[in-house]
Amino acid sequence: MIRPVIIGTGSYLPERVLTNADLEKMVETSDEWITTRTGIKQRRIAGPGERTARMAAAAAKNALAMAGLTPDRLDLIIVATISADMTMPSCACLVQQELGAQNAVAFDLNAACSGFVFSLDVADKYIRQNPQLKVLVIGAEMLSGRVDWQDRNTCVLFGDGAGACVLTGSDQGDGLLASRLFADGRLWELLHLANAPRRQCPSGAAAVEPATLNRDDALPCIKMVGRDVFKYAVKAMETAVLDLLAREQLTIAEISLLIPHQANIRILKSLCERLGLPLEKAYINVDKYGNTSAASVPIAIDEASRQGRLAKGDLLLFCVFGGGFTWGAALMRW
Ligand code: ACO
Repeated sequence: MIRPVIIGTGSYLPERVLTNADLEKMVETSDEWITTRTGIKQRRIAGPGERTARMAAAAAKNALAMAGLTPDRLDLIIVATISADMTMPSCACLVQQELGAQNAVAFDLNAACSGFVFSLDVADKYIRQNPQLKVLVIGAEMLSGRVDWQDRNTCVLFGDGAGACVLTGSDQGDGLLASRLFADGRLWELLHLANAPRRQCPSGAAAVEPATLNRDDALPCIKMVGRDVFKYAVKAMETAVLDLLAREQLTIAEISLLIPHQANIRILKSLCERLGLPLEKAYINVDKYGNTSAASVPIAIDEASRQGRLAKGDLLLFCVFGGGFTWGAALMRW
């Protein structure tokens, strides 16, 4: 059976670090509150000129280098994002231009924080039809341009960055075994990007480029009912994982590493507890980068891969939840 395998990974994180101590000077919060409620110690924030498409392309270049491919070999580029630099054209088209990947079809996919796993599922459909295809799947976000920096409920949670994977077909039993995706639009109000006066990060840490690009002070910013999101996220991810494992006749004990969406350490701990998975079997970097939405899973895959935490034959479990609501899980034999 033909399955998509990852042949290259890459990531890009802006250099600029925004710590909890920095946030203490911007809103009424504390390192203690943020750390105990979320596990986040710092996040990366795009500087001037670091737009979503540029971060995405930088991550893609690293992934292509690992895959040993030149950009002209790409057939398809999918960018999962909710923070594209412009509504039109897509971020994927800007990435195509930046890479010089003229042979690739390019489009964006919006499934919020679940976007990377949804994009993997789409790539799977293409590759099963044509195993020769070379597909670039990217998760890229510049959420510093989408938060109200005076809203302590949200501004402490998010960060910027991009992760990328290059995929092609394999018949060796490795690759994406299966995925399960879900959506429930009835719950959209609990987590959404709404038009509202957006206040710039007072420290100047947030990138200003998208605002200047659009010349619009009323860019959407994230609105969230945190407690409800928390409850739904844990339950939904648990259900998706159990459903997927049952369909594939696998048990949680067979999972080598869980690579979850990095929203919040408490969500991840609750999820692992419910699944009966030791926390050491979950890859966690939310402390360093905060919630980078669609970018969090591919950044984590790249880090885990480069740190030597992924061995051939390992069974990886990806698990995501985000606005929509959208959620899902995927299994990959490394
Ligand atoms: N610093 C200090 N106090 C704060 C802060 C802050 N940054 N933010 C909120 N508070 C206050 C609130 O105002 C509230 O004060 P009050 O009781 O006087 O009204 C108090 O802290 C408790 O607020 P809660 O919202 O009840 O706090 P909770 O324990 O639920 O933690 C949190 C909030 C961290 C947002 C939590 O609900 C959560 O993690 N939810 C999931 C949200 C999430 O991860 N969203 C990301 C997108 S979705 C995804 O990626 C899965």
